[in-house]
Amino acid sequence: MTPERGGPEASGSGRAHGKAILMGEHAVVYGFPAIALPLLTVTVDATVQLSTDADWLDCAYYRGPLAKAPSELGGLRLLIEESRRALGSPSRGTTVHIDSMIPPEYGLGSSAAVAVAIVRAMYDLFHQTLAAKELASLVHVAEVHAHGSPSGIDAWAASVDSALWFVPGQPPDPLPLSRPLFLVVAGSDTPGNTRDAVRRVKESQARFGVGAGPIARIGELTRAARPALVRGDYGFLGALMTEAHRELNALHVATDHLNRLVSTALRDGALGAKLTGGGGGGSMMALAADGSQQMQLAEALRRAGARQVWTPVVGGS
Ligand code: PMV
Repeated sequence: MTPERGGPEASGSGRAHGKAILMGEHAVVYGFPAIALPLLTVTVDATVQLSTDADWLDCAYYRGPLAKAPSELGGLRLLIEESRRALGSPSRGTTVHIDSMIPPEYGLGSSAAVAVAIVRAMYDLFHQTLAAKELASLVHVAEVHAHGSPSGIDAWAASVDSALWFVPGQPPDPLPLSRPLFLVVAGSDTPGNTRDAVRRVKESQARFGVGAGPIARIGELTRAARPALVRGDYGFLGALMTEAHRELNALHVATDHLNRLVSTALRDGALGAKLTGGGGGGSMMALAADGSQQMQLAEALRRAGARQVWTPVVGGS
C-alpha cells in the first residue's frame, strides 16, 4: 500500500537512541576498532507525512521549509532526497517532525540518531522493510554532511540495541555482556564540535604517524577492553577507560571541565572515567561498581557543574 492510497493523513514514524562510545573514539577514524554502548532511554522520535507543499521541517531548532533550514541541517535535506530515491517515491513534499531528547553536540550521537529516526519513519510510511546495512548507508549521507569524514560508528550505534564492536567499513559485532554495566554520562559546561576535534586530532597525529602515538595506543586499549567487557571484568575495563582518557588528552580533545568531571568521578571511587565522543567540550562517562555508586557519582558530577547527567545501565538481565 502506498501513502497516496492511504490518503493525505498517512504518516510514518521512527525511533532511534543516543549512544556513548566506551572506547576508541578518534582512533576509529584511522581504522582502529571502537566499542559503542546504546543509551536506550535517550531517544529521538520522527514522524513524516507526504504533502503537496515543499519539504518542511519541524524540530526544536527550526520550523519552516527544509530548503531554508540552517546549513547544519542541510544533511537532512540530502537524507530525505536519498530515502525517497531508495523507496522509489515520487518527488513529493515531505513534512518531518522531530522530537529529540539527545542534546546536539554533546558527543551522544544526536545527528546520527535523528537521521536513523527519519529513515525509519520514511520506510514506515511506505510500509517497506529496511535492512540494517541500507539504513547505515542512507544515514552516512547525512553524517558526511554533519561531520566531514565520519567513521560510521554513530549510524550503527543509534540503531542497534546492544553494545557494539565496530571496525570501520564492516557491519559491527553485537557484544553480549555477562552482567550489567552501570554508567554515568555527564554533559560538560560547553558543547563539543566533532568536525573541529577530528581536524585537531589529524594535526596532532601527523607528528606520530598512524602506527604510533596516542591513536595507536587507544587502538591497543580498545582491543584489551573487548574481553574485559564481555567477561564482566569491570575493574580492568575502568582502568583501560582512564588510560584512554589520558591519550585523548594528549590529542588535545579534552577540556578543563571534562578533566575536572573525570577527576571528580575517580576521586569518588569510579572504576574508570573518560570523555566520550568527539570531545572539545561535550560529555564524559564514568563506570560505577553498582547501582548505588552510580547514583552517588551522578550526584557528585552534578555538584561539579555537569550540565545534564544520565545513568544508563547497559546489558545484563
Ligand atoms: O561526537 P560524536 O558523538 O559524533 O562521536 C564522534 C566519534 C569520533 O570517533 C570522534 C568521530 C567518528 O566519526 O567516529
